[in-house]
Amino acid sequence: MKRTRICELLGIEYPIIQAPMNWLCGAELVAAVSNAGALGTLGPNAGAKTITTDVVETGERLRSQIRKVKSLTNKPFAVNVTVGSESNFSDREFSKQSVGVILEEGVPAVCVSVGGPQVYTKVLKEAGIKVLHAVSNARYARRAEEEGVDAVIAEGFEAGGYKGFDELPTMVLIPLVADAVKIPIVAGGGIVDARSVAAALVLGADAVYMGTRFFATKESDAHPKAKELIVQAKDTDTVSVRKQHMMLRALKNDYTTKALEILARPNAMEELAKFDAEHSIMKGTFLGDVQGSMVPSGAGAGLISDIPSAAEVIQNIVKVMDTVLERLK
Ligand SMILES: Cc1cc2nc3c(=O)[nH]c(=O)nc-3n(C[C@H](O)[C@H](O)[C@H](O)COP(=O)(O)O)c2cc1C
Repeated sequence: MKRTRICELLGIEYPIIQAPMNWLCGAELVAAVSNAGALGTLGPNAGAKTITTDVVETGERLRSQIRKVKSLTNKPFAVNVTVGSESNFSDREFSKQSVGVILEEGVPAVCVSVGGPQVYTKVLKEAGIKVLHAVSNARYARRAEEEGVDAVIAEGFEAGGYKGFDELPTMVLIPLVADAVKIPIVAGGGIVDARSVAAALVLGADAVYMGTRFFATKESDAHPKAKELIVQAKDTDTVSVRKQHMMLRALKNDYTTKALEILARPNAMEELAKFDAEHSIMKGTFLGDVQGSMVPSGAGAGLISDIPSAAEVIQNIVKVMDTVLERLK
């Protein structure tokens, strides 16, 4: 498989990044991905077994996960920092604590999301850490480039989990971003196999960012029922739910039906926030309440029909890539 600027930047063999998924990507998955020649990324709640509001505990958990990854691989890996809004004090405190731990422990790369590039880029880059910043449109990509990030992660509307309101599909977003910036581009949203990896590279990406595909792998920390739901999902089985500051793409279930009902009522956001607190992503993906709670998933779930190891996902993409490219000749 072709080496790209991202391979050089991050010191990896294949231009494939396992995207962060909150509770689901702990040290085992991250190390398995990195050992297979791609880049694993620790999620913000990697290794967590319960929800905590304790900022120090969260930081220490991240520290032990970083150390565990280092004990399982000597290859590069990344950590996700969700910046969080300044108005939500507790959000920002969590990311500040994570960045402090990242600087103390030393990690090769950080994938920054849910916030602007002006917050942490400088301090991370001064520590020699590669900064990849998630954006949802070309204007944000230019801004991230101006702030000095090493690469932008352009996430299309197909992506699982939280994303912006722009609703730009990957097919449109990637060439727009490729025209807007000179730095390397990582494409995310709906990429699950060699065909979509090839398409992303053709559109101008230098690497891909895959979440949902790695959700349904042996090493992911997702509950077996949640992995099975991804495998069973048909093409029409995800939906986007509007939240206060972002959109969430998730598998259709009792949670999304109820959330969409709430959204049709007055004062919906307040009621939805209360409902969400009881029907969290942790409950849906980690504890296995796959009907009653949120199970974020990309639209690509309909293309996933197995639960292989992370290495098999990567090896299969590499193997099939030549056949896919042959069709272009
Ligand atoms: C279950 C799940 C949890 C996610 N949690 C996070 C997260 O904690 N931080 C983040 O930046 N993105 C998160 N995302 C988004 C992914 O990092 C990535 O952008 C997305 O999965 C790419 O699209 P795909 O799912 O179609 O591959 C999550 C996605 C999923 C499916």
